[in-house]
Amino acid sequence: MPRYAILPAPSANRVYAAGAPAMVAAELTVLAEGPLGGRIGEIGIDRIGDLDAIGFTAADLDARDLAALSNLSALSALFERVGGATPEPRDLLRPLVPTRLDRYDDDLISILKYPGKTNEQFTKLLLNVTVWSATGGATTADRRWTVLDPMCGRGTTLNQALMYGWNAVGIDLDTKDFDAYTSFLSTWLKDKRLRHAADTTRIRRDGAVLGRRFDAHIAATKEDLKSGNAQSVSYFNVDTLRSGEMVRAGSVDVIVTDAPYGVRHGSTIPGRGPDRADPERAVAGRSGADRLRRSPTELLREAVPIWARLLRPGGAIGISWNTRVAPRPVALGILADAGLEPLDGPGYDGLCHRVDRTIVRDVVVARRPGGVASDPDELAKR
Ligand SMILES: C[S@@+](CC[C@H](N)C(=O)[O-])C[C@H]1O[C@@H](n2cnc3c(N)ncnc32)[C@H](O)[C@@H]1O
Repeated sequence: MPRYAILPAPSANRVYAAGAPAMVAAELTVLAEGPLGGRIGEIGIDRIGDLDAIGFTAADLDARDLAALSNLSALSALFERVGGATPEPRDLLRPLVPTRLDRYDDDLISILKYPGKTNEQFTKLLLNVTVWSATGGATTADRRWTVLDPMCGRGTTLNQALMYGWNAVGIDLDTKDFDAYTSFLSTWLKDKRLRHAADTTRIRRDGAVLGRRFDAHIAATKEDLKSGNAQSVSYFNVDTLRSGEMVRAGSVDVIVTDAPYGVRHGSTIPGRGPDRADPERAVAGRSGADRLRRSPTELLREAVPIWARLLRPGGAIGISWNTRVAPRPVALGILADAGLEPLDGPGYDGLCHRVDRTIVRDVVVARRPGGVASDPDELAKR
C-alpha cells in the first residue's frame, strides 16, 4: 500500500511548533475518519532523515482527497514515499502538488500581530476539524461555508474563513478589537485593490445604541459584487450573549472560537461578580480588579445554548479553551447540556497542547443533531 509523508510547516510560535506534528496527525485522523471515509489509514509520525513527518497509507489519492489534504493547517509539502532498495524500500520522496483553497495573499492572516492573538495555524486547524465534523461528509474544498466566531477578537478566524473563500461573522465585546480589525481589513482591501463595499453602522434596539457593526462584501469582479456572489464578513461589537439578536437562527454552518483563557484575557459580563464558592470560577491569576469578570467556564455555560441555536441542523461547533480553567469533561458536558452531540475519540482526543506556563489548550467539537448527509460525489462536483 503506498505510503505518504506530510512535512509540517515551521510555525512562528516555537512552543506550538514542538507539538505541531502530533497535532497535524490528530487533525488528519479527524479528516480520515470523517469526510475521507477511511480512505487513508495508518496515520503516525514517520522519521525521515532528522525530520518528523506525518505518515499515512492510502490505496490511491484522487483529486478530492488531495484537495482536502492540501488544506491541512500545517502542511508544507506532501510526498509519496517510493523506490529505493530494501531494507529501506521507501527512501525516495515523490512530490505531490497541493491544491490549496487560499485565494488571497497570506498577509491577510499574518500581518496583524498583538498580544492574545490566537496562533494562525491553530485557528486553521480548529476551523478544519469543525468543518469536517459537520454532517454531510464535506471537506473544506466542497462548498462556501458560513463561519461564526462569537468571540472573534481581532479576527484571526474571520480572516481564515475569507482566505478559504467563505463568509464570516464575528462578535466581540472589546471595542479596541473591533476598531483594530475593521481598520485593518478596510486598509488591506484597499491596498490589495480588491472590489468591495464596507460600512460601519450603529446597532439600535428600542431607541438605545447596543453597539456597532461592520459589514464588508468582497468580490473578484464588479458583477460578482452586484449579483450578490460576493464573500461577506460582518462583525458585531456586542456581548456574545446577544448573538441570538444579531445572527439568524439556523443560518450558520460552523461556529469556531478560542475562548478566553481566564488568565490574561478575562471574560466580561458587566455588573455580575463571581461566586467564590464555585471552584470553576477560581480562575488562576484573578485579582481584586477582576472581580467583575466571570470565569470562561461560566460564560460558556451561558453562551453555548445561545450559539447552538444559530447553527443549521448538522452544523458543528469547535471551541478551544484553557484546560487549567476547566477539565475536558466539563467542556464536553457544556456542549451536551446545550443539546449538541459531542464528538470524542480518535483525532478529537489528540489536540491538547501547551501554549505557555499558564495555558494548556484543548479542543472540543460537537454537532447539532439533524441535517442530511450529502453524497460526497455530488459535493465534489459543486
Ligand atoms: C482568546 S481571545 C480570542 C482571540 C481571537 N481568536 C484572535 O485571534 O484575535 C477571547 C476573546 O473573547 C472576547 N470576549 C470575552 N468575553 C466576551 C463576551 N462576553 N462577549 C464577547 N466577547 C467576549 C475577548 O474580548 C477576547 O477577544
